[in-house]
Amino acid sequence: MKRAAAKLRPLLKKPQAEESPFAADAIKGLSAKPKYMSAKHFYDAEGSRLFDAITRLPEYYPTRSEIEVLRDKAGEIADLLPEGAALVEFGSGSTAKIRTLLAAAPKLAAYVPVDISAQYLEAEAARLRRDFPKLAVLPVAADFTKPFELPAKVRALPRAGFFPGSTIGNFEPLAAVAFLRNAARILGRGAVLVIGVDLVKDARTLNAAYNDAAGVTAAFNLNLLARMNRELGGTFDLSAFAHRAFYNRERQRIEMHLVSRKRQKVSVNGAAFEFERGEAIHTENSYKYTPEGFASLARQAGWLERALWTDAAGYFSVRLLTLKRDF
Ligand code: TRP
Repeated sequence: MKRAAAKLRPLLKKPQAEESPFAADAIKGLSAKPKYMSAKHFYDAEGSRLFDAITRLPEYYPTRSEIEVLRDKAGEIADLLPEGAALVEFGSGSTAKIRTLLAAAPKLAAYVPVDISAQYLEAEAARLRRDFPKLAVLPVAADFTKPFELPAKVRALPRAGFFPGSTIGNFEPLAAVAFLRNAARILGRGAVLVIGVDLVKDARTLNAAYNDAAGVTAAFNLNLLARMNRELGGTFDLSAFAHRAFYNRERQRIEMHLVSRKRQKVSVNGAAFEFERGEAIHTENSYKYTPEGFASLARQAGWLERALWTDAAGYFSVRLLTLKRDF
């Protein structure tokens, strides 16, 4: 049965682009009401470059605030990591963050960056091996939201996890719990998790962080349309869409949208989509948590909060969670 199906498949094959996850998600999101796009598609080469520029913007405080915490509290964080542990980073982003932690924690035996991009991983691993010669650097190419295997070399070691950048805030709360459960399963009994979580604060500071004066966040958001043009034969006129980001106080999240400036028709991968004037594509959420709010979310996934640190302004939190014994 299986074999026959496999043989038939080439006959039914649609054009290549339609089968890429990006194409499938684009069609699905643009067909929905209201329209949305899955935020993970922000990060092609241009999107990654733009995000890097966002982290240096004067208005975008999260990266600077988190690095301030990691730098000032590195010793306290390191004290709570298990001796001889493997540190597993979920999605390896800014190396400034991990380097701060590694430098403060010579007790770590291994560093396991987990990222979907194998190429990025290898280049960075080589640099880390040079700078931390006693550390075993063992990258894993995998989607960290799904179950994956740790390298055999670290199976016998105690585990610590690292999840910076408030990336947890880009998940819906239910998906955040699912991520934390998956992390618990992968890290196992006795594990700790160091996680960066952006905090609820005044709307003005939040709105400014996602509406920078230089327009880099707008360019980052609009790059999603440019990417559909480049990769899926899209016909988006970028000047006919506006970046809109605002803090939704009830839901404690920044929402990012792309708003159609006029009534228009766009085609993507051969399919046509109509936009009313003012109609939006919802592209991203960035949930903000209170100190207690996140601790209770973590408890639902079996994690207890052992420590919480913030920057001097109280903008951003880094927390250390431990697995409940009965999990
Ligand atoms: N997790 C970070 C945040 O929500 C980074 C991020 C994701 C981001 N998507 C973004 C920052 C879009 C600016 C714009 O802040």
